[in-house]
Amino acid sequence: MHVLVIGSGGREHALCWSIAASPVLTKLWCAPGNPGIGQVAECVPIGPMDFPSLVAFAQDNEIDLVVPGPEAPLVGGIVDAMEAAGVPCIGPSRAAAQLEGSKAFTKELCDAAGIPTAQWERFDDAAAAREFVRRRGAPIVVKADGLAAGKGVVVASTETEALAAIDAMMEAGAFGQAGSSVVIEECLEGEEVSLFALCDGTAALPLGAAQDHKRVGEGETGVNTGGMGAYSPTPSFPDIAQETAMDGIIRPALAEMARRGTPFRGVLYAGLMLTASGAKLIEFNVRFGDPECQALLPRLMSDLLPALQAAYDGELANFDLRWRDEASIAVVMAARGYPEKPERGSEIGGLEQAAAVPGVLIFHAGTEADTTGRLHAAGGRVLNICATGPDLRAARDAAYAAVREVDWPEGFCRQDIGWRGLAPATDKKAAG
Ligand code: AMP
Ligand code: GLY
Repeated sequence: MHVLVIGSGGREHALCWSIAASPVLTKLWCAPGNPGIGQVAECVPIGPMDFPSLVAFAQDNEIDLVVPGPEAPLVGGIVDAMEAAGVPCIGPSRAAAQLEGSKAFTKELCDAAGIPTAQWERFDDAAAAREFVRRRGAPIVVKADGLAAGKGVVVASTETEALAAIDAMMEAGAFGQAGSSVVIEECLEGEEVSLFALCDGTAALPLGAAQDHKRVGEGETGVNTGGMGAYSPTPSFPDIAQETAMDGIIRPALAEMARRGTPFRGVLYAGLMLTASGAKLIEFNVRFGDPECQALLPRLMSDLLPALQAAYDGELANFDLRWRDEASIAVVMAARGYPEKPERGSEIGGLEQAAAVPGVLIFHAGTEADTTGRLHAAGGRVLNICATGPDLRAARDAAYAAVREVDWPEGFCRQDIGWRGLAPATDKKAAG
């Protein structure tokens, strides 16, 4: 098969690494890719939103399957553009990508399909939104309806904070069109997990669960980021609970999307809150999580490419994937200043030594190579130091041993990735 992956982050590096190992693959390209991806695929300098160039490239190179990584091209309709040109592309159509593109769309679908989620209301009018917040009180959650690069959500612990969020989104236009309407919802309490499923329009195959660390600082402090690290499996969300969520959340969403004539194909990512009254949906995303993907794929024993093909063909019902009985972790190394103002350009060394630590895999997220081949930071999240091991502790120790080999004084990472997964064992030890 000729395969084209779209994107340039750590998630796309993990996807390319996984697909490159497939015996079914003839040639792999990635647009635009990064220096790490360049080790397993041929990078082509086309941006993820340049649909005409992507389509032309896919046609010229007889691509058998296009695999978009990030949400922006999916929500923008890359699948429709490829399909119109006769190029197979595994992901949701623009209509189905509304599951990530609009919070109100998803909340309304939850109500229609009986999917457990926080109580909510949608507002196009700032005065009505403020009135609702005053009536309900805090804590309360204010969300820009559209895509806001992960920054359009304010979990307000006071009424003042919620009112300020409404002003910023609806009056000051902090997120442009994305914030012209807002969803205001009940604040859920519990632990957050991400559940992934590969979908073919009607059937869904579990891809496992992971836990992401969204805050920039240790102990879940500081501002929200795209994700500072992830690990899998998740002791607080075992297989049996995942099956319950597949049946109560993922499959009803698929059925409702199909009933509406906009079947969902691709990776469906359910962000869940494990509340006292069961798992509730916080949000759907229409693609793999980043860095969750980098923690999940190293555990996959089966060939990913035929599974993606089967999802495209609508043939997942009788498909099976096997997973290693190992723990996996992804530690994000970010450039100083991330997420507000990451410093660009600093040189990165020591990756060979880091990759030589047993069990370690390094995925590039925001690197660039100069003419002499030296690596430099070119983004906020720059490297993913990943490791697998017999248990989470071993995986974590291997990942941090590799982090210590990386020669990059201008980079930083959280030292506590996976702490929730390690906590029960610590408790047991303390108790015993
Ligand atoms: P989202 O962009 O919808 O994932 O929201 C970003 C983050 O805000 C989530 O990962 C949660 O930590 C938090 N969040 C969103 N909705 C709620 C809610 N209803 N209750 C509590 N926290 C929430
Ligand atoms: N790690 C969260 C996301 O990919 O949206």
